[in-house]
Amino acid sequence: MDLEQEILRLKKDLNAVILAHYYQESEIQDLADVVGDSLALAQHAAKTTADVIVFCGVHFMAETAKILNPGKLVLLPDLDAGCSLSDRCPPDKFKLFCQQHPGHFVVTYVNSSAEVKAMSDVIVTSSNAVKIVQRIPADKPIIFAPDQHLGRYVIKQTGRDMVLWPGSCQVHELFSEKKLVQLKVQHPEALVIAHPECEAPVLALADFIGSTKQLLDYTVSSPKQQFIVVTEAGILHQMQLRSPGKVFIPAPPDNECACNECPYMRLNTLEKLHACMAKRTPALELPPALAERAKAPLARMLEWS
Ligand code: 13P
Ligand code: SF4
Repeated sequence: MDLEQEILRLKKDLNAVILAHYYQESEIQDLADVVGDSLALAQHAAKTTADVIVFCGVHFMAETAKILNPGKLVLLPDLDAGCSLSDRCPPDKFKLFCQQHPGHFVVTYVNSSAEVKAMSDVIVTSSNAVKIVQRIPADKPIIFAPDQHLGRYVIKQTGRDMVLWPGSCQVHELFSEKKLVQLKVQHPEALVIAHPECEAPVLALADFIGSTKQLLDYTVSSPKQQFIVVTEAGILHQMQLRSPGKVFIPAPPDNECACNECPYMRLNTLEKLHACMAKRTPALELPPALAERAKAPLARMLEWS
């Protein structure tokens, strides 16, 4: 069976749209209708007319699509595709944290569960966090969760003092300042571009910081020819497609691996994508009341973006 052809046939039969994050394997990206960062995929999910959303990404991304489309079937090739940031912010502990900081405006990164989103005032992604925090009245104290590194980056950009939930991404925290300095010495012509989930000493070495889409756009518009890419290696596929003549060097993690991959994102495969469309499962399910509560802060994000 030609898996790609079969997936395209099923897509037509189901009247489905396939949304894929940049960290998916390249075969999945090549089949998708839309490849994007968390914000672009959420914006697309909010306006799609398809009957079925097939989400090739991690759980919180598909959950976001479900919150925005409670009546639609939202499929995720592997329901175990979680996210360490989301996992490190359990709703019961987050509730206590919010209670310990009464009167705070709660800004939550989209890499979080529906329960945590439902306790928030506004959701942000890495591409709009600075812009959204700037809109919050200056006299309002802010909680920022769950990524402390993105939070510190936003504090630096906006000058706003924020209470940070101490979460981090297990993939981005693996980049090390030492290995990055070595790589810069080996490639003195290369610009360093990094995702704001990286730790501050790594971000201090970057020439440009942004969401996956912002990093991709930067490599297209920059006249430079070489880039050291400090985020999950899946993004290199689109960078190479958009700028075939340029050189992209994946920054290695601080272990024996050559490049840094998100183990959750990589749970999705072409085979599982085909199976979920053929069987119409696994599907994202959410209690309607929870979806309703989580929708308000998400809708505010889309409006403020
Ligand atoms: P982006 O929104 O920048 O694509 O980030 C998603 C993510 O999970 C980064 O680790
Ligand atoms: Fe979550 Fe990190 Fe994977 Fe992004 S790279 S999905 S933040 S674990």
